Amino acid sequence: MDKIVIVGGERLIGEVEISGSKNATLPIFASTILNQGENIFHNVPNLKDVETIGKVLRNLGIRIEAEGKKYKIDSSEILNDEAPYELVKTMRASILVLGPLLARRGRATVSLPGGCAIGARPINLHLMGLEAMGAKIELSRGYIEAKADRLRGASISFDIPTVTGTENLMMAATLAKGKTVLQNAAMEPEVVELANVLIKMGAKIKGAGTRLIEIEGVDELHPVEHRIIPDRIEAGTLMVAAGLTKGNIRLIDCPIDHMEAVILKLRDSGMEIEKEGDGSVRVVGNRRIRSVDVKTQPYPGFPTDMQAQFMALMCLSRGLSVISETIFENRFIHVSELRRMGADIRIQGNTAIIQGVDHLSGAPVMATDLRASASLILAGLAAEGITEVSRVYHLDRGYEGLDRKLAQLGANIRRVKEGE
Ligand code: EPZ
Repeated sequence: MDKIVIVGGERLIGEVEISGSKNATLPIFASTILNQGENIFHNVPNLKDVETIGKVLRNLGIRIEAEGKKYKIDSSEILNDEAPYELVKTMRASILVLGPLLARRGRATVSLPGGCAIGARPINLHLMGLEAMGAKIELSRGYIEAKADRLRGASISFDIPTVTGTENLMMAATLAKGKTVLQNAAMEPEVVELANVLIKMGAKIKGAGTRLIEIEGVDELHPVEHRIIPDRIEAGTLMVAAGLTKGNIRLIDCPIDHMEAVILKLRDSGMEIEKEGDGSVRVVGNRRIRSVDVKTQPYPGFPTDMQAQFMALMCLSRGLSVISETIFENRFIHVSELRRMGADIRIQGNTAIIQGVDHLSGAPVMATDLRASASLILAGLAAEGITEVSRVYHLDRGYEGLDRKLAQLGANIRRVKEGE
């Protein structure tokens, strides 16, 4: 397994481009199941998770051709309805084919996604919604066996605003008979982007980006061409890198309008973040990092996917900060590794109390999930000495060449292939 070696202390200077959004790409790729033709997507990020959703779609008989960041996805033929365990276990977002398969084929056999490092992550709300739309669902041998002659519109209320739950049911509803209403829906930009693509395909959707989404079923959808929006979490991660290294960087194609809660907290910590004319953003870190409290919330609140990265920044702040994680029950796995670098962090339930320290020390550390690995790399940029982050396959799931981008900005960082 590869590892990433960082010698801390370099200020980040220069500019990098933000890649396409992982969490927009995955549901949009799944939505091609709903039409029957050649879809073209631009600005697709080169990520392990994108490779995996591609394998899931190919396994259904869908033809995919990638030319760099341009993907052609031809969903004219679907030869089977199964998303097997071997694929779903590597990426739980594969569950996003369930709704579209039911809508197009009237049946689906999808492996139940297991838990993951950050929490149990049940999918009861996905299944509740599909049953409300008339699907018959059985769980057997670790698989979801779902059947529906034709889904019918329903009024569905989510106990929790689930992102992929909203996406799965919104996709299923586009071809259902009648009107579906999703209450307490997720409002993430990636949900809105999926709705934009579905509407381009001919779907009738109102209210995406609010807690109430209405979908009027139609008989068929047609293929589309679309550019994937930039990744707000990658952008936030690079902003924290500038904050930690007192850097001065320019982020090209930065989705600042999707990052209000994160920008507010970074400015509170003392950073300067300004939009420039051409869709880029100037980010300047200052000498003093002020302590800031954060509580993760569904969008438009502070995103849970930025919690670990922001904690790395708070480790070097002047004072005490309190970070509460309200979305996932076990998303502090990075804390023990940050402590090994000298961070002063105490955990009480779903709250972490960070006492800023003067410096962190490089150390061998281990990544356990996608955003925890980013957090450890960020801490390594600012730490004194050498940090080695192992198990970086987590990182490659959701960041397109983060080490290459940081090196481009002047970080002393390199990837060491296993056995080198
Ligand atoms: C999406 O996951 C993202 N993944 C996650 O990003 C992100 O952390 C999460 O939303 C929250 O923003 C993709 O978009 C592919 P949820 P998702 O359903 O949809 C509970 C990353 O790092 N819940 O919004 O799986 C659940 O346990 C990844 O890029 C139920 O109880 O998250 C959690 O506590 C990590 N029952 C809360 O809702 C359900 O049926 C929010 O989960 C569904 C969810």
